[in-house]
Amino acid sequence: MREEAARGLEDARRRTTRLTDIDEPELTTQHSPLMSPLVWDLAHIGQQEDLWLLRGGDSRAQGLLSARVEQLYDAFEHPRASRVSLPLLTPAEARSYLADVRGRVLDALERADDDRIFDYVMVEQHEQQHVETMLATHQLRDGAPILGAGSPLPPGRDVPHDSVLVPAGSCTLGVDARDEPWSLDNERPAHTVDLPAFRIGRVPVTNAEWQGFVDAGGYDEPHWWSERGWKHRQEAELERPLFWSAGASRRRFGHHEDIPADEPVQHVSFFEAEAYAAWAGARLPTEQEWEKACVWDPGLGRRRRWPWGDSDWTPALANLGGDALGPAPVGAYPAGASPYGAEQMIGDVWEWTSSSFEPWPGFTPMLYADYSAPFFGGDYRVLRGGSWAVGGASIRPSFRNWDHPVRRQIFCGLRLAWDVV
Ligand SMILES: [Fe+2]
Repeated sequence: MREEAARGLEDARRRTTRLTDIDEPELTTQHSPLMSPLVWDLAHIGQQEDLWLLRGGDSRAQGLLSARVEQLYDAFEHPRASRVSLPLLTPAEARSYLADVRGRVLDALERADDDRIFDYVMVEQHEQQHVETMLATHQLRDGAPILGAGSPLPPGRDVPHDSVLVPAGSCTLGVDARDEPWSLDNERPAHTVDLPAFRIGRVPVTNAEWQGFVDAGGYDEPHWWSERGWKHRQEAELERPLFWSAGASRRRFGHHEDIPADEPVQHVSFFEAEAYAAWAGARLPTEQEWEKACVWDPGLGRRRRWPWGDSDWTPALANLGGDALGPAPVGAYPAGASPYGAEQMIGDVWEWTSSSFEPWPGFTPMLYADYSAPFFGGDYRVLRGGSWAVGGASIRPSFRNWDHPVRRQIFCGLRLAWDVV
């Protein structure tokens, strides 16, 4: 466990370095009001590691930064749009701070009690989440590419874009720490739910399918949209997914390229996803349905750890880890299918669900008590499954992400669901 935690911290830092080892102006510029300047994320990663691992979460204890500087990295105090105007650490100061914290953390890890190892993996997951946020910042940035080409992915295959049946019945939702020691507070505890039968898409909705919605005038027809969704569509003048241009091309990390037909669509908001689903004669799944379709094994009457079984993730099973810089085409991972036959539930794109973010019954906050609890009941929708951009150690079928229904700079898409009548 200790070695796994050390390896995870190292992997997260390798990814952070890859995204921040760039010219100084790229780090200090605000590439979008939706995002922090990258140098804020960089120092905030160190500040959280300092707080949770060197001070046990006691923010009144003296850290390696002065209190005046440290508060600049409080995400609750400073909204993203304002962070660029704060007197932040320079890139060189931020890097040296991160290295100083990490050295002390690795020393502390060697001496840590076994029941503290979770905190180290929690901090690794925090860094991995910021890596994904920083990838979203890179994607929003204008200008020539600076991340290079993504690593190759397996080819797609001619998979039917149909649905699979998930029969009615009870299943276990969520996990307990004894089974998933790195699960975060909102994934716990395991509990039983009984769901009516439903159908769910075998694969995520693709770019070609989304183009059909655009071509059919889906963005001009209020009938398909919720009242709030249509109001937002008009105010934000939405006409197609973010980063698509009118001529069937898109911008991806500074590259202008044709839109690949069989890749899962990315960068659509919840409101757009909901409208698309209505147009397609379907709906979005609830997160309960999503999780059952992902891991419930009806033959064994228990959850699997992953859709493909209990073995750990490998690059042959799902597109995770961020090196590809994009989703794989549908059909690329037949070996990663769930017991019901749904494919690519883990990796590629976060999938919007129709569920708002609420605690599971029996919820108990973890050491970082404000990770989930302040967001329950807010104006959020849950996303599941992780994207190509998430670290392999920071996604689980029970993992719950949440965001505002208008958000679309994240690596999000959708999968359809249908009632069975
Ligand atoms: Fe954070």
